[in-house]
Amino acid sequence: MAVSYKELGLVNTREMFAAAIKGGFAVPAYNFNNMEQLQAIVMGCAESDSPFILQVSSGARKYANQTLLRYMAQGAVEMMKEVNPHLRFALHLDHGDTFELCKSCIDNGFSSVMIDGSKYNFEENAALTKKVVEYAHQFDVTVEGELGVLAGIEDEVSSEKSHYTQPEEVEAFVAKTGVDSLAISIGTSHGAMKFTPEQCTRNADGVLVPPPLRFDILEEIEKRIPGFPIVLHGSSSVLPKYVKIINSNGGALKDAVGIPEEQLRKAAKSAVCKINIDSDGRLVMTAICRQIFAEKPAEFDPRKYLGPAREELKKMIIAKNENVLGSAGKGKLIWGDK
Ligand code: G3H
Ligand code: 13P
Ligand code: ZN
Repeated sequence: MAVSYKELGLVNTREMFAAAIKGGFAVPAYNFNNMEQLQAIVMGCAESDSPFILQVSSGARKYANQTLLRYMAQGAVEMMKEVNPHLRFALHLDHGDTFELCKSCIDNGFSSVMIDGSKYNFEENAALTKKVVEYAHQFDVTVEGELGVLAGIEDEVSSEKSHYTQPEEVEAFVAKTGVDSLAISIGTSHGAMKFTPEQCTRNADGVLVPPPLRFDILEEIEKRIPGFPIVLHGSSSVLPKYVKIINSNGGALKDAVGIPEEQLRKAAKSAVCKINIDSDGRLVMTAICRQIFAEKPAEFDPRKYLGPAREELKKMIIAKNENVLGSAGKGKLIWGDK
């Protein structure tokens, strides 16, 4: 039987994106696959009073079981009532690649879905996206589409080369499909190795500096669809602190490089109102687990390494909300009187 996200106490992304555009901040979209990640996201956003999007990829859905995931999200709603009663959040399908997958999520309590038709040509992408929008909007579920291709390799999302979004296509895509937000490609990339050393320069300390994001493309897009919510995928900063802990405790993440925080700060002030972060959370958890395994080799209680990893992830999330996305404190502004 179908379950509506409204019955679960979730919200779609419309109200939070409107506030983000108006207030010059971006809503964080954090991916989760397990209980500790979910707890860190919920507690980090509750403590910093940040609207947020809980994001589930199709890989996460397979890993954690779709039914369990839905009840985990429902459990998070109940937990939120105890820790920050006015704060709301969305449950979003990340990189949905078929109509059937999007429909299944909509029928099972998701409040928002992404249909990623970026591997198709413009017409096929628009037709698939429109089909998802027509189904989703019957239930007031919001839909994110994508134009342009991001580079990067992950379980379910992969492309060797990026193709920037062509600004001249965005108006027609938005008008044809009726999407609620649009993911664009301006130089971000999925995963922890976002750029090859050849694509980067080195600073005086020999640290890799990635090529800057194409803010000129973003500005051109903003001119063509003013006030329309834009999404940035592949926006982890690959924080050097955690890469260093991983590598000094037996890891081998060579040439890991992410999107500098100043560039995300700048993007968050623009029409970019959703910023996707997955790899940074993975790196934090891996760093803390590796450190504990190295320092306490006799430890075998998962709570003793997953607990500290969860605590560090929560701290990272609070820091992102406060210092990078500017979303901290905005929960009260949007839902404080509800
Ligand atoms: O953009 C992709 C997300 O980081 C999800 O990755 O497919 O490995 O779960 P995944
Ligand atoms: P990162 O790999 O940069 O965290 O990007 C995640 C993402 O875009 C999820 O859709
Ligand atoms: Zn993505």
